[in-house]
Amino acid sequence: MSKVYVFDHPLIQHKLTYIRDKKTGTKEFRELVDEVATLMAFEITRDMPLEEIEIETPVTTAKTKVLSGKKLAIVPILRAGIGMVDGVLKLIPAAKVGHIGLYRDPATLKPVEYYAKLPADVEERDFIIVDPMLATGGSAIEAINSLKKRGAKSIKFMCLIAAPEGVKVIQEEHPDVDIYIAALDEKLDDHGYIVPGLGDAGDRLFGTK
Ligand code: PRP
Ligand code: URA
Repeated sequence: MSKVYVFDHPLIQHKLTYIRDKKTGTKEFRELVDEVATLMAFEITRDMPLEEIEIETPVTTAKTKVLSGKKLAIVPILRAGIGMVDGVLKLIPAAKVGHIGLYRDPATLKPVEYYAKLPADVEERDFIIVDPMLATGGSAIEAINSLKKRGAKSIKFMCLIAAPEGVKVIQEEHPDVDIYIAALDEKLDDHGYIVPGLGDAGDRLFGTK
C-alpha cells in the first residue's frame, strides 16, 4: 500500500496557513506556493541514493558523496501544478519537466485529459507528480495512469492539501505510488472542494476569478 507522508515542518505549516487564508492575494499566494514546494522538495528527496567519489580539496584528497541513481522528472498537472514546478526546480535544477493537462468536468467532477508531454526516457526516470490539491483523486489517478501508460515505473505524488477520499483512492488504485502532502484535511464538500482547503487552486494562483 502507498505510504502517506505529511510534512509537518513548522515553516511549511506556517506558510500553508497564509496560502489557505482568503485574504491572501494572487501575488503572495503564488510566492507562498513556490516556497512550500521548495520546502517539500527538500523533504521528498530525503531518500535519494548517494555514491561515494574521491575529490581533491585545497587541503587533501577526500572521499565524499554525490547523488546517484535515476534522474528525476517533475510533472505538474495543469494548470495549478505549474505553481509548484519552479519551487521544486530550485533544489533539483537538472530535473526534466513533463506536463499533463487535466480539468475536472464541473458536472461530473471527472478529469478530462487535454494534454500530455513527457521526457523521452520515461522508463529511466523517477517521476514526481505535483498538484496543489488532491480532492476526489480523479485527476491524480488519471495523471498516474497517463504516466504508467507511457512507461513510467517510479512515481511519487506531491500536493499541498489532500482530502481523505483522494488519499484512499490512490492507495487502492496505485499502491506503488507514495503520497507526500503538507496537510490532510477533513473532507470534501458537495462540489468536490476540500474542506477547509484553500478554494480553487488554479483560480487563486492565476487570478482567474
Ligand atoms: C484542481 C486541482 C487538481 C484537481 C483536484 O484542478 O489543481 O488538479 O482540481 O481535484 P480531484 O482530486 O477531485 O480531481 P482543476 O480541475 O480545478 O483544474 P485547473 O487546475 O485547470 O483549475
Ligand atoms: N480543486 C481545487 O482547486 N480545490 C479543491 O478544493 C478541490 C479541487
